[in-house]
Amino acid sequence: MKKNSKLKVSIIMGSQSDYKVMKLAEKTLKKIGVSFETKIISAHRTPQRMYDYAAKVEKNNVGVIIAGAGGSAHLPGMISALTHVPVLGVPVESKKLKGLDSLLSIAQMPKGIPVGTLAIGEDGAINAALLAAAIIANNNSNVRKKLKNFRTLQTKSVKKSPK
Ligand code: RP5
Repeated sequence: MKKNSKLKVSIIMGSQSDYKVMKLAEKTLKKIGVSFETKIISAHRTPQRMYDYAAKVEKNNVGVIIAGAGGSAHLPGMISALTHVPVLGVPVESKKLKGLDSLLSIAQMPKGIPVGTLAIGEDGAINAALLAAAIIANNNSNVRKKLKNFRTLQTKSVKKSPK
C-alpha cells in the first residue's frame, strides 16, 4: 500500500440494477473530492470475481469499501470476511420486501466480521459516502477540509422558517 493520502474508496454492488442507488455514493464522493472506483461484483453470480477483487484490494490502495446489495445481500459480509479494509454496507431496496431483507442481511453479521450498515436506499448510499470520506479524512487534510466545508454549506442551507 502506498501513502495514506493516496487511499481511495471502492464502491461495489451486486448488480447493474443497484447502480440507480449507488450512483449517489459516487456523486457524494465527487462533491467531497475523494477518489473512487466503481465495480459490479456479485457474491452469488460472480463469486470468483469477488475473491479476485478481495485479494487485490489492499494492494490497490483501497482505504474503505462501500458495498451495496439487495435481497439476500451477502456481498458486504463476504467482502468483509475476505479483507481487513473497512466495509460499509448499503441495503438496496428489494422488490418484494422493500429492502428490509437487505437491511437485516447486512446488519446481522455474526461477531468477528463487521459491516458498518447504513440506511436502506439513497440515504444509505449518500451517508456511506460521507462516512467513507470521514474515514479517509483521518489521514488526508484535503478531504477533511472539503468535508467540513460540505457540513458548513449544508447547515447554511437550512432555512429558519418554512415560509
Ligand atoms: C442482488 O440481487 C443485487 O445486489 C440486487 O440488489 C438484487 C437483484 O439483482 P438483479 O436481479 O436486479 O440483477 O444480488
